[in-house]
Amino acid sequence: MAPVKSVCFIGAGFVGGPSGAVLALKNPDVEVSVVDLSETRIAAWNSDALPIYEPGLLPVVKEARDAEVRPQNLFFTTDVKGTIKRADIVFICVNTPTKTAGIGAGKAPNMAYFESATRMIAAEAESDTIIVEKSTVPCRTAANMREILKAVGKPGVNFEILSNPEFLAEGTAVADLMKPDRILIGSMQTPSGLEAAEVLANLYGSWVPKENILKTNIWSSELAKLAANALLAQRISSINALSAICEATGADVGEIAYAAGLDSRIGSRMLQASVGFGGSCFRKDVLNLSYMAETLHLPEVAAYWQSVVAINEWQKSRFTKRVISTLYGTLTGKKIAVYGFSYKKNTADTRESAAISVVKDLIAEQAKVCIYDPQVTKAQIWEELDINGCHLADVEKFVTIAQNPYDCASESHAVIVLTEWDEFSNKDVVDWEQIFDIMERPAFVFDGRRVIDAGKLQRLGFRVECIGRGNPF
Ligand code: NAD
Ligand code: UDX
Repeated sequence: MAPVKSVCFIGAGFVGGPSGAVLALKNPDVEVSVVDLSETRIAAWNSDALPIYEPGLLPVVKEARDAEVRPQNLFFTTDVKGTIKRADIVFICVNTPTKTAGIGAGKAPNMAYFESATRMIAAEAESDTIIVEKSTVPCRTAANMREILKAVGKPGVNFEILSNPEFLAEGTAVADLMKPDRILIGSMQTPSGLEAAEVLANLYGSWVPKENILKTNIWSSELAKLAANALLAQRISSINALSAICEATGADVGEIAYAAGLDSRIGSRMLQASVGFGGSCFRKDVLNLSYMAETLHLPEVAAYWQSVVAINEWQKSRFTKRVISTLYGTLTGKKIAVYGFSYKKNTADTRESAAISVVKDLIAEQAKVCIYDPQVTKAQIWEELDINGCHLADVEKFVTIAQNPYDCASESHAVIVLTEWDEFSNKDVVDWEQIFDIMERPAFVFDGRRVIDAGKLQRLGFRVECIGRGNPF
């Protein structure tokens, strides 16, 4: 096959933007274009104020995009059709959110954006093209794509479909892309399928060691992505289920995770008990897997994965109930300071953040909620609460935004830590002694992330309640 000259990423989001940038950086001879329908998103990618907050991303983008130290080979554009026409390889990185209406609503992924991207490639491609599924999709999506490409594609143009799911986590996207645990490439096991997989492997081979590039059949690759996210989410639900037992018995879930995680068969990562996992992937992908099982007439399997999500929902509401009961059964009129609104540290992404559910519950209790997050804007918090069913009139009435942790905590009855931003752990920026001075008495801290030094705060006079820690006496 001729050398790859031009690559297109459709969807300039959390996956397409960083993935395109790193591929361009590592393959200076390949023209990489990241395309999107959204003009504002593309304009932001072409500026120094990138549309996503991701540590270390701007220097990577600038090096490939700005032609200051080397010829430019990274382009962000809304010219979707023109870019597809030139591309040897097209990565589909569009969103596949959970359906909100129709059959499978609340469970099945909405494949409309993905299908529309597939149809656009089929209609525009003028020469043989490799199409790469990078979005997370149900197993056997490639079979649907094959039919569409056959029906819509121009005569004489051949398509090869590969599955190459993305495993990056937000907040560490650049590091994950630079040094991935593995690159997974699924292809049809035909000569042309295997050849296409080799072409893609060679692009990654410019920075990923060969032994970390795994080739499988296409259905395994599609399913492996859902499996990986489901297994990770399941670990968090498992440790969160144990956190409830800890709170009731006096055991400490941190010690449980440490002791269990030292078993090399279990391992220590993804065992941090929390107020609940968030992010655009875990819930969606576990539900996707569960729905697939349902449609494959495997109800027991569907129920098993569904329970991972159910525990997560329960964990979020359990946390708020603990806040309410500890604050003597009523929050009415009490100021509650919420530290953190993003779903994890080092990202401004708020999709499925546990903070949404907690804040909704606090509003229902008529608390005066004040939120401080170092990266998330007021507009985004308002939008997130709006799309998750809060009446904007209630949000305006009960919620305020603070620009720093001190204004946030001033005259509050409790501080609730919902995101593990480094500045909230008391080794860092927040001066908890000062916070204590400006709060009502008793001054409570509820740590939904287990990031604060509870002993130190207790010595300062705080009453501290942590996820997964009960009374040890
Ligand atoms: P996103 O919402 O941030 O970005 C998707 C982009 O695609 C949007 O900018 C949208 O405008 C654009 N788009 C939609 N349809 C289009 C079309 N027809 N033509 C051009 N642009 C179009 O989504 P994301 O978080 O980057 O996720 C993308 C996919 O990757 C999803 O399937 C997701 O499950 C998967 N994934 C996400 C992550 C993550 O951390 N966010 C990690 C791994 C995999
Ligand atoms: C996840 C997967 O990790 C990644 O491989 C996939 O490509 C996309 O989905 P992401 O959602 O960005 O990535 O972040 P992750 O670090 O996995 O955290 C997800 C949620 O789980 C966050 O809310 C996080 O705070 C929470 N979490 C994570 C825990 O509660 N405990 C843990 O031990 C780890």
